Amino acid sequence: IPVDPFDLVIFGGTGDLARRKILPGLFRRFCTGQMPSEARVIGAARSEMSSHEYQQMAAEAIREFGGGRECEDGTLDAFLERIRYVAIDARGTGGWEDLQKLMAGTGRIEAYYFSVAPSLFGDLAERLQSYGMADDDARIVVEKPFGRDLATARELNNTLAKYFDEHQIYRIDHYLGKETVQNLMAVRFGNMLFEPLWNSQFVDHIQITVAETVGVGGRGEYYDKSGAMRDMVQNHLMQLLCLIAMEPPARFDPDAVRDEKLKVIRALEPVEPHHIVRGQYEAEPGDAENQPDYRTAVGNPRSSTESFLAMKCHIANWRWAGTPFYLRTGKRMSRRSSEISIVFKDTPHSIFGDEAGRHRNVLSIRLQPDEGITLGVTIKEPGPGGMRLIDVPLDMTFADALSHDDVETVDAYERLIMDVIRGNQTLFMRGDEVEAAWAWTDPIIEGWQARGEVPKPYDSHSDGPDAAEQMMKRDHRAWRKV
Ligand code: BG6
Repeated sequence: IPVDPFDLVIFGGTGDLARRKILPGLFRRFCTGQMPSEARVIGAARSEMSSHEYQQMAAEAIREFGGGRECEDGTLDAFLERIRYVAIDARGTGGWEDLQKLMAGTGRIEAYYFSVAPSLFGDLAERLQSYGMADDDARIVVEKPFGRDLATARELNNTLAKYFDEHQIYRIDHYLGKETVQNLMAVRFGNMLFEPLWNSQFVDHIQITVAETVGVGGRGEYYDKSGAMRDMVQNHLMQLLCLIAMEPPARFDPDAVRDEKLKVIRALEPVEPHHIVRGQYEAEPGDAENQPDYRTAVGNPRSSTESFLAMKCHIANWRWAGTPFYLRTGKRMSRRSSEISIVFKDTPHSIFGDEAGRHRNVLSIRLQPDEGITLGVTIKEPGPGGMRLIDVPLDMTFADALSHDDVETVDAYERLIMDVIRGNQTLFMRGDEVEAAWAWTDPIIEGWQARGEVPKPYDSHSDGPDAAEQMMKRDHRAWRKV
């Protein structure tokens, strides 16, 4: 179903995100007919270039970063025709009147994507208002990082609030746009099977792992000021934790869902220093030139920023008291794999005796790669050998379970941009949520700084520092294989 006609202005239109995700994503939506043919995409950035040159840049980005394999010939040209470019000075006045003219009186939905450094958010919002582009129905989309602590996030929220209402502000966390993340909600709240067991009475613990094989790449300068805590935990892992831990919202609507997520964040206990392991990756042996160690990669030989983090968290409420949530994320790990595992408790008593073995049910939700859900079930080992128990996976890899026609792969950004146009904020973070997440994160980071903590080195392409395994062993548990 096509969305209503819109004009999407991308500030930072020549940047990495625009080239990798936003333009190719919009093109795919154009191919499927969801982006209507009257809609326009307007790149805005500092460089002087013509709309034609920008269209060429967009075409290259689409070829390089994919999309639209299923698109008919000629569709790319039709899409490019919908693209304009305006050279703009975010802090000055240059280009704003041109943009204003372009946007005036079209009757289309107006969306402004701030794909720029957060230090420019305020200027952009102010200019949009003073040039009359901040009407009630306009939307702004803001990228992370949304602040680097509670104070800066609050400041950003206050600045944006001067020009836009909360219902107009779409704070992106692209993890919420991933197909399986939404499936997590479908599994929890669309089945009778799981929810009665979804609490500390039946769940031993929960693991959330987001492992990446890449290093910090060319983003060293940003990353070294952030680290895994600010880059991944405060946002993506926190969002996953919320969706697993929240109470059932009364409706699948923006405020009902976000109210429940907020309660989870506010119920998170402060984390004890000995429940956290921080790591920094070493160079890849034999390939240190291309895959240098973390400190070399970020150009800071004394850096104490973590590229790996494992931690044990507790949620202080009736549902989860006593059930730890173990979070783990890192760069340069052995595999790219994101998985959430709900590990259920042992049966209270084994009728088969000790020789049969004791097994646990584990519900694993794989976000990437190979999206799917597996439920580990205990059965009898086949054969004449008596009653011995083994675990078998009831596997539902989505690609296998659904017929090809049912599976339309939609990238997270693509889906979220369409939600912006539809005016649906369910999968976007509300201001108070972001602030609550920082309020939990800040004291942890401050503690590391006050104690002068240095992350532990770990081998490139490993599962992180050994201390992360030890942390689990102390609790008589183990990380699931990455
Ligand atoms: C981004 C982080 O938000 O998410 C990156 O800034 C990280 O450091 C990326 O690599 C991971 O996203 P995905 O979708 O590849 O899992």
